[in-house]
Amino acid sequence: TTMTEQEIDVYYKAVLDLVSLAGKVVNEGFSITKHVETKSGAADLVTEFDQRVEEILIKSLRETFPTHKFIGEESAAAGAKTVFGDDPTWIIDPIDGTTNFVHGFPFVAISIALAIKKEVVIGVIYNPVLDKLYSAVRGKGAFRNGRPIKCSGQKDLALSQVAGEYGSSREPHIIDAKCQNMRVIIEKVHSIRAVGSAAMNLCMVAEGSCDAYFEYGIHIWDYAAGDLIAREAGAYTSDPSGGPLNLLHRCILCTATKELAQQITPLLTHMKINSLLFVAICASAFFSA
Ligand code: IPD
Ligand code: CA
Ligand code: CA
Ligand code: CA
Repeated sequence: TTMTEQEIDVYYKAVLDLVSLAGKVVNEGFSITKHVETKSGAADLVTEFDQRVEEILIKSLRETFPTHKFIGEESAAAGAKTVFGDDPTWIIDPIDGTTNFVHGFPFVAISIALAIKKEVVIGVIYNPVLDKLYSAVRGKGAFRNGRPIKCSGQKDLALSQVAGEYGSSREPHIIDAKCQNMRVIIEKVHSIRAVGSAAMNLCMVAEGSCDAYFEYGIHIWDYAAGDLIAREAGAYTSDPSGGPLNLLHRCILCTATKELAQQITPLLTHMKINSLLFVAICASAFFSA
């Protein structure tokens, strides 16, 4: 093992300890009444637990690894400078599935990725309500509660269970495009599931309980960890319009096989969803490149 591999092992052990601690805080909040506020719109929710969990994660990682950088959903929302550069960078979604968290629907997850030189090397997703821990280190396979997982290997769209999401934007043209995508896909598959967590969707492709997942409008913290876990479980991830995945492009298609991706890509209405935050992250990635 190289020096970097040993270092990655240290980071991996640290984040596994930390995520189980943070999971206890999420579980404390899960069954009680939360203080709910909105962010970009009436369906974009945040609670005091989202902020608290992110603070715990960043504070602890920063103490242990003072030179590392951080991109966190709630820090970004509070105006923190988000730089996706070459330094080791922890990409954190403290609660993925906040709407589920608010409603007591058990698909909530803490998602943490570590990128070095803009490549994700560690992905950890923990659903503390269902006590399911998904994790991967680059090149070493994907695991659920410590046991190896594999994607389904499904090649036939007609036999597939597909995860898709409506997201939190209530802009009519975005809703129209998303409903159009559901409309063309449903005709061709066993089923569509929309469980409200990008991170969990990627884990479900990784474990084989879904054969594909696609979404537009998500952010780097929604899919950085899940993308690695899915790929390490044998899944294929790409830009929904074909071509390589880009963590700053705010969209993903994740499929059990490349054959499935080739069947889904031509069916989708492709969306380019921008935001100030997206521009800020892109600009910093560009300038640090
Ligand atoms: C959301 C979830 C949801 C997806 C949204 C995300 P959040 O994340 O991943 O599945 O459809 O686009 O924003 O806000 O609950 O962390
Ligand atoms: Ca959110
Ligand atoms: Ca999220
Ligand atoms: Ca979140």
